[in-house]
Amino acid sequence: MIRPLISLSILGRDQHQGGIGLANWKRTVNCGVLTASDSGSEVVLNGWVHRQRTFGDLVFIDLRDRTGLVQVVVDAKEAPELVTKANACKSEFVLSVRGAVRRRREGTENAQLNTGEIEVAAADIEILNSARNLPFTVSDEENMRLVDETLRVKFRYLDLRRPKMYAMLELRHNAVKRIRDYMSNQGFLEIETPIFTKSTPEGARDYLVPYRLEPGLFYALPQSPQQYKQLLMVAGCERYFQIARCFRDEAQRADRVPEFTQLDVEMSFVEQEDVLQVIEGMTIDVVSALSPKKMPTPFPRFSYDESMRRFGNDKPDIRFALELVDLSELASQSEFSVFRSALDAGGQVKAVRYPGGAALSRKEQDELQNFCKEFGAKGLGTIIVHEPTPTGIKSAISKFFSEEQLQQLLNLCEAQPNDLICIIADPKPKVVANVLSRLRNEIGTRCGFRDPSVLAFCIVTDFPLVQWDEETQRWDAEHHPFTMPYEDHLPYFDTDPSKIRAQCYDLVCNGQESGSGSIRVHRPDIQSKVFDLLGIDRETQQQRFGHILEAFSYGAPPHGGFATGIDRLLMNLLDEPNIREVIAFPKMGLGYDPMMDSPSTVDDAQLKELGLSIIKKEKSQAK
Ligand code: AMO
Repeated sequence: MIRPLISLSILGRDQHQGGIGLANWKRTVNCGVLTASDSGSEVVLNGWVHRQRTFGDLVFIDLRDRTGLVQVVVDAKEAPELVTKANACKSEFVLSVRGAVRRRREGTENAQLNTGEIEVAAADIEILNSARNLPFTVSDEENMRLVDETLRVKFRYLDLRRPKMYAMLELRHNAVKRIRDYMSNQGFLEIETPIFTKSTPEGARDYLVPYRLEPGLFYALPQSPQQYKQLLMVAGCERYFQIARCFRDEAQRADRVPEFTQLDVEMSFVEQEDVLQVIEGMTIDVVSALSPKKMPTPFPRFSYDESMRRFGNDKPDIRFALELVDLSELASQSEFSVFRSALDAGGQVKAVRYPGGAALSRKEQDELQNFCKEFGAKGLGTIIVHEPTPTGIKSAISKFFSEEQLQQLLNLCEAQPNDLICIIADPKPKVVANVLSRLRNEIGTRCGFRDPSVLAFCIVTDFPLVQWDEETQRWDAEHHPFTMPYEDHLPYFDTDPSKIRAQCYDLVCNGQESGSGSIRVHRPDIQSKVFDLLGIDRETQQQRFGHILEAFSYGAPPHGGFATGIDRLLMNLLDEPNIREVIAFPKMGLGYDPMMDSPSTVDDAQLKELGLSIIKKEKSQAK
């Protein structure tokens, strides 16, 4: 059910002065706002036929506008001259209806509908436009999931007619409005930054725009306004925000699209804590105003290292406990060669509890093994717990442990009757973390612990500054090269860069990254150290970042900021797993827009003007 958007007062009740096309048929009130208190009033409604049906002498038309539905009734006994017209009003015809609001007959009220107590007895109907048969039925919400998503996106202007989609658009509008109000009240200025810009070091591929006047030159669409917002700090704007459209040419996922919207923020003369308070304050304000979901506050904080240790990833779903248990020390005393060889090679042995998992069949256990193997595990060790004692368990690996060790293991895992203890050993701690975090989430889902009525936000801090890339054999920025390392970690630049932690943070909700930011480097000596570590030589520094380095030499204040995904916020508010469902006009996989049939070819003349010629790729090469 959607809430009324437009109040009666906007148009008043007696504005029948008319105009081109709608003379005498202009709406006096919206469909979805009528209630029993309007009984007796004369109204003119404008909208679409949601459904039409006939019962004996009565023709019912559910008329829909953006605010909702109202039942219009044509009674052959009261208005015989209208029956033929009413019967001609098929689904999605555009109508104007003049009539009187009255209470429905007792027993025919519809509690599901805002307007369910009343109906409008039609005195006259004007068909403003007809409609062809639609490719899917807008009024059949229950069966929408059977409609192919590409078809829905191809006809998005029809898909958006569904009340559920109006509600999404309204919520999105309200969220952005609330964010704007919150940020403005906190002294932030909304400033627009260019869409035609230069490649930013955000990590994904850029979308490029050829420059007509000098073929061979290109603008890039912004992956985020990162550099502009830092330049605004050099400009003395101090507190900036923008509802910014960002473009990244990367593969789509359930929570990732090539064109998305961020709340982008930057602040001067601040430390990490100041920025975190804005992120948290804004999020609490917006979510609590717009969602009935429970949101534990203050948001718990975890350092990156702690999050990895306890949950196996840097975006923990903290709606449930089931933390990872480190069994490495215990496993090193066992006789089990698989565990010992993993540990000898610098690895780990860790476990997670699966409550109720003792009841899994052999086949289900095999499936769980395969699940772990899919994410890189060599195998999955299991202990079936009937009772949390050495004699109350069943496991192929128990023979490698003494009774005392087994009891210790069960205690460490806080094993409960009916648990399945799932153990992963691997020479690479990253593999252990990855597999167990996925297993933990899977167990959380299976056990119903991922409560959709809760939004469990947390903040993860102190990320590594850099990550070693095995493929290219070099250090890569974990976030971007302007992220400030902790000052007392500067010596690690020369000894062990993997130990450098940065003043960098993520906002996480229900196991998904919602936002991210950092305190930026504003000191040239530290900036050089970072560039050197990343293997970016002086010439490349000048070529790629010369403009910003130059700006920083003119008195850059200490500054930092963040960006949160507006689309992801909407996903959380609506409990919607597919990001495209919260976007008015999304692209399908591979960035295709079936509605506009875009991307599309352009004329040879246009190509010539841009100095471009096309080298055709084989279909299979296109990624
Ligand atoms: P980052 O790249 O982490 O940081 O992006 C910030 C937030 O934007 C959202 N987001 C996306 N949403 C949908 N589809 C995508 N392809 C996509 N990519 C990112 C996420 C993410 O948390 N300039 C930095 C921020 C900063 O340091 O201030 C940045 O853009 O919710």
